[in-house]
Amino acid sequence: MSQKQIDIARSKSLANGFNIDFIKSDIKDLDLKQKFDVVTAGFVFSYAPICTELKDYLRVAYNHLKTDGRLFSVVCNPLNPLRESGVLYRVSLADGSPLKNGSKLCCEFFDRDGKFLCYDYKFFWDRTSIEDSAIKTGFNRLFWIDIKNRETSTDDVPKLKSTNAIFYARK
Ligand SMILES: C[S@@+](CC[C@H](N)C(=O)[O-])C[C@H]1O[C@@H](n2cnc3c(N)ncnc32)[C@H](O)[C@@H]1O
Repeated sequence: MSQKQIDIARSKSLANGFNIDFIKSDIKDLDLKQKFDVVTAGFVFSYAPICTELKDYLRVAYNHLKTDGRLFSVVCNPLNPLRESGVLYRVSLADGSPLKNGSKLCCEFFDRDGKFLCYDYKFFWDRTSIEDSAIKTGFNRLFWIDIKNRETSTDDVPKLKSTNAIFYARK
């Protein structure tokens, strides 16, 4: 994320009455010298390209939590990340090899009329690898919460079947 994006986020937040601290850093290097009740990580773990980095992300979360603090994260499709349909987004294997932990995924995004918008790359980590990394980091109570799929479509959001899940862990 660029400094310009951070500056835009800060000015939009202030314009909407939120005084939020925005910090530009690689997660792995983050040390705020402060501990919190809750750390959130929405759709972040899938950016770790190798398992040691996944552990780094969890270590940084752990180090910023008070005793009994909670990590609340949303994980991209830890059961079945591949998605053929081009409705809103499509996920395919970037290098064509079979799906395994650490597989590079190409995620393409489309508007509701099917127009291609942009793409990025993510990496597949299943539930077991995230749990193992969290336990090795020191988290001791782990929970998965399934996100219920939308039952109907609306004008803006078509009905999607997703296996995104919430991973919740306590220090
Ligand atoms: C899919 S976005 C989700 C953002 C937000 N949590 C949300 O739900 O809207 C994930 C973000 O994590 C950032 N990210 C991934 N790995 C990172 C790292 N090692 N250091 C800093 N940012 C990282 C990406 O640049 C991206 O902006």
